[in-house]
Amino acid sequence: MDDLIRRAVEDLAAAKNVAALTGAGISIESGIPPFRGKGGIWERFDPMEFAHIDALMRDPAKVWRILVKEMKEIVDSAKPNDGHKGLAKLEARDKIKTIITQNIDGLHQAAGNTDVIEYHGTFAWQRCMDCNQKYETRKVDISEIPPRCECGGILRPDAVFFGEVIPAEAMWRSRQAAAGCDLMLVVGTSAVVQPAAMIPVIAKDNGARIVEINPERTPLTDEISDYLIMGGAGEVINQIVTALEKM
Ligand code: APR
Repeated sequence: MDDLIRRAVEDLAAAKNVAALTGAGISIESGIPPFRGKGGIWERFDPMEFAHIDALMRDPAKVWRILVKEMKEIVDSAKPNDGHKGLAKLEARDKIKTIITQNIDGLHQAAGNTDVIEYHGTFAWQRCMDCNQKYETRKVDISEIPPRCECGGILRPDAVFFGEVIPAEAMWRSRQAAAGCDLMLVVGTSAVVQPAAMIPVIAKDNGARIVEINPERTPLTDEISDYLIMGGAGEVINQIVTALEKM
């Protein structure tokens, strides 16, 4: 067994209160592309043109065309992978308490995790820009875009666009979880987007051990992480959970 996997198993076994921060990397093995790097959505579409609140206000139909084509069809058909399932098993073993995710795909909940903080909101719900009424995305008729509310207002994903603030409850609950954990798994995030990238720093400042899982190094690797396990989330988390179950 890889030394770092063994170390992570020992650290998890000893930990009392584990939290996780996840990013797009954990959903790549479910067929959802990342935002950055090879095959990243932002390599093909300028985020300021398609994912900034000003762009949505300026031309909702243009943003919706991309959202539908690139997000809805992919997210609707995506299934949890071994990475998501492994974190759910850790919750079932009462090892992991809270997952803070930057992802809007709902795959942690689909895998069985019950305490998931959706830091950047969700794509599972749409919200009216006029009256704030919410609609389940899968029930929204998108034959005409932008889709509209009963009040006539335009619907938008209940996700955080660039230029918007993090929902207050998600912000303070994440801070609480980060400050209160003694081990944080940081899985599949490039850790370049703020304020999400601050969450492992808060955990570290409060004495937590930071275990990073990513095939690549990130700005956290040399500064904040105790160690980085270089590999895909599905395989690495699967190895860790399998070893933990044998203990
Ligand atoms: N398993 C784990 N991590 C992986 C895998 C894998 N199989 N494949 C790639 N990665 C890593 C990449 O090395 C990269 O560090 O996943 C990370 C994906 O980074 P981003 O695409 O930047 O995603 P993320 O960090 O979640 O982006 C943060 O930016 O665009 C906004 O709101 C959006 O929530 C998103 C935020």
